[in-house]
Amino acid sequence: MNLLIMGPPGAGKGTQAERLVKELSITHISTGDMFRAAIANGTEMGLKAKEYMDKGALVPDEVVIGMVKDRLQEDDCKNGFLLDGFPRTVEQAKALDEMLKDLNIKLDAVINIEVPMEKLMERLTGRRVCKGCGASFHVMFNPPKEDGKCDACGGELYQRSDDNEESVGTRLKSYMDKTQPLIDYYNGQGTLKGINGDQDINKVLEDVLAAVK
Ligand code: AP5
Ligand code: MG
Ligand code: ZN
Repeated sequence: MNLLIMGPPGAGKGTQAERLVKELSITHISTGDMFRAAIANGTEMGLKAKEYMDKGALVPDEVVIGMVKDRLQEDDCKNGFLLDGFPRTVEQAKALDEMLKDLNIKLDAVINIEVPMEKLMERLTGRRVCKGCGASFHVMFNPPKEDGKCDACGGELYQRSDDNEESVGTRLKSYMDKTQPLIDYYNGQGTLKGINGDQDINKVLEDVLAAVK
């Protein structure tokens, strides 16, 4: 199954993706995670992306598009994938359509996680992420069993450098200006499944699974 998950920053894309890829045995492709890995490895692309990410701005389309095209051709995508955080602009969505056509791949569904805007700041400033496996926690809404330690792998939890009020403000604005138009784009293609993301994490997962099966 080939899926795409979208929604504003903090909607729960990563949280659901982590669970969905296990449930469906498919590969998680998060462009945000790929950039964070490139930054950790100190690559040239990582250094360039970091300037945009720390401010909460989008990385230029041509950088992201090339990276995803390469990633989709790797072997682990053959049995299905879940794209998280891409596309984020209409240009990226059009480029994805082209790529999928070239590679002869069909998207089965586009999942749109809906959460009221006023809840997102709190979700993001309270988020903690595992250095080891990338799992997301929240100090109040999804706390780890042991303070500062990942439930899944025991890794150290940290706060993302773009999870501060200023960067989150910019991220929410870029979402509204550049990414929200994709809802109409995918509605027009008839593949969009709207999911209420403002409920218990397990209930959101249940609703997504019901929508894609
Ligand atoms: P990216 O890493 O994709 O960040 P984002 O889109 O801002 O989304 P987040 O990862 O912040 O939110 P999420 O929806 O995954 O939420 P999560 O599940 O963690 O991108 C980062 C940056 O990289 C961008 O700003 C940009 O610069 C660059 N970039 C990436 N892709 C790009 C692209 N295609 N083009 C250009 N630039 C790109 O959950 C959030 C919190 O809420 C957690 O604490 C979690 O525990 C909690 N939570 C989750 N679900 C619930 C629930 N149901 N109830 C209560 N709390 C919940
Ligand atoms: Mg995420
Ligand atoms: Zn972990």
